Amino acid sequence: MLKKFREFYNRLFPEPIIYLPQTVEAKDDKYQMRVMRPDDVPTVLSLERSIYLNTPWDKYAFLSEMQKQGRTLYLVCTEEDTDAMVGYIGGFFHGEHAHITILAVAPIWQQRGIGRMMMNLMINFAKQRGCTYLTLEVAVDNAPAIALYHSLGFADGRIRKNYYTEERKDAMDMRKELDSVTAASDEKGDTDNG
Ligand SMILES: CC(C)(COP(=O)(O)OP(=O)(O)OC[C@H]1O[C@@H](n2cnc3c(N)ncnc32)[C@H](O)[C@@H]1OP(=O)(O)O)[C@@H](O)C(=O)NCCC(=O)NCCS
Repeated sequence: MLKKFREFYNRLFPEPIIYLPQTVEAKDDKYQMRVMRPDDVPTVLSLERSIYLNTPWDKYAFLSEMQKQGRTLYLVCTEEDTDAMVGYIGGFFHGEHAHITILAVAPIWQQRGIGRMMMNLMINFAKQRGCTYLTLEVAVDNAPAIALYHSLGFADGRIRKNYYTEERKDAMDMRKELDSVTAASDEKGDTDNG
């Protein structure tokens, strides 16, 4: 009974999310991971628009997500020397459920292990927060992202028809159980940071 009450209370009043800036490594290069700030949003949006023709994310979506205290974590990854933003990731946490809302690496920084590093960081963060499963949606034709998620132990789920309405593109739900992580999925380019 007490456990149920505690779960109910934590859902209503989640513990604050605290993330201190950290130096992280991806394929031997060093980066900084820190919480996204409101003044990052213009840079995030220009990266977002350099990747997608149509993005559902705008300034207000980012700002409102970042304000959901105790429920969301939005991080940016910057190059250590120049402080240039190279990528970002966002997650939503609700009880045992964690959900990746956004992940992107700037085109010129792709395929250097940054996407994997940020995903591992969120996976570790979700585990530390007591989440038992992690979900996300991905466009069915996004082969690089699907390959990354498969390599991290995500399983394919149901197809959502016309999920990306502008492009009339289908999405696939993916899910990873956090208490049954295989050694292989943790090994590859993993980081203990986060
Ligand atoms: C998907 C994305 C985040 C991957 O980030 P990244 O930093 O380039 O990926 P990494 O270098 O960490 O690679 C991790 C794995 O992803 C897969 N991958 C990455 N780029 C790939 C490509 N061009 N083709 C096929 N697989 C690819 C591989 O499995 C790779 O593992 P490997 O290095 O052992 O081969 C990045 O391509 C991106 O930002 N794409 C545009 C936005 C997007 O699609 N976001 C996801 C929305 S759900």
